[in-house]
Amino acid sequence: MPHPQILALGEPLLEFNAAAEGSLDDAAAFHLGFGGDTSNMVIAAGRSGAAAGYLTRVGDDAFGHALLRLWKSEGVDVRHVTCEPGGATGIYFVTRHGEGRHAFTYRRAGSPASRLSPADVPGQAVAEARILHLSGITQAISASACDAAFHAIDVAGRSGTLVSYDPNYRPALWPLERARAVVLRTAELADVVLPNLEEGRLLTGLEEPREVLAAFARRGPSIVALKMGADGVLLGTGDRVTHVPAHPVTAVDATGAGDTFDGAFAARLLDGDSPVEATGYAVVAAALTTTGPGAVGPIPHRDTVLAERSPT
Ligand SMILES: Nc1ncnc2c1ncn2[C@@H]1O[C@H](COP(=O)(O)OP(=O)(O)OP(=O)(O)O)[C@@H](O)[C@H]1O
Ligand SMILES: [Mg+2]
Repeated sequence: MPHPQILALGEPLLEFNAAAEGSLDDAAAFHLGFGGDTSNMVIAAGRSGAAAGYLTRVGDDAFGHALLRLWKSEGVDVRHVTCEPGGATGIYFVTRHGEGRHAFTYRRAGSPASRLSPADVPGQAVAEARILHLSGITQAISASACDAAFHAIDVAGRSGTLVSYDPNYRPALWPLERARAVVLRTAELADVVLPNLEEGRLLTGLEEPREVLAAFARRGPSIVALKMGADGVLLGTGDRVTHVPAHPVTAVDATGAGDTFDGAFAARLLDGDSPVEATGYAVVAAALTTTGPGAVGPIPHRDTVLAERSPT
């Protein structure tokens, strides 16, 4: 089997989504799902037609096995997934608090993925991939995982593999000052940077979307896609800035919309789309992801996205 074209590095999680609105201490039932930003991204890339693979560590436990079954059923290459004996795969709980507001509670400290280290990075696979994708979460979960991320970026940079990077700032995982230092440094090394507006504002200290975009672009990536929820995407390529409006949908759960955007965007770049074309496709894929509950279930396949773009 050839190496995957898109290789993502990060932590997958099992999701427990509270069935009814309210706080976690009141929750009586949960819907089980899958999450983890980079796992969502590879699944989205695969459903958009890319040969995608995942690089992570899971526990040799029920949750690790469930994730492995998920990736295999999606055609995601798992040869670089290490299944760790005795490890406890990370989980998280989602509660809803009205008006689309969500709260996340993580149980991931000491997870197998937090033991990712540079030794886990398969040099040849990274070199042969066309896109390496990682996120700020990959860097935030532990120092050794952060080292793994920078090592993978270094290998990618020396072999012409594009680096795609989503800051995905999560305040529960690391303090803003440390996140800012690492994220802005990574933006200097990445080719494609995919922040959302909220984290972009926090990380740059700027307010205006165009200024936030420029602050990332100035660091050197050839593409910056600033994700702005229902306001769509501000795309920066070189000196050009293009606003791509969101695709209108009735959103019920935006979890994973950004990850789906990242995966769909990467898949279309590999198919030869320009960044503007890839953004036009990815906003439709991301919008469709918001129309159903959970992160993974509603990620659309390519045919669904194409049909939605040009209704007959
Ligand atoms: N309500 C919505 N209607 C239409 N499209 C949406 C909506 N919310 C999100 N999207 C699409 O999804 C993209 C990514 O969403 P968002 O800006 O929320 O990213 P994010 O915050 O990184 O998401 P995540 O929670 O996955 O990290 C948006 O740029 C937009 O194209
Ligand atoms: Mg995001």
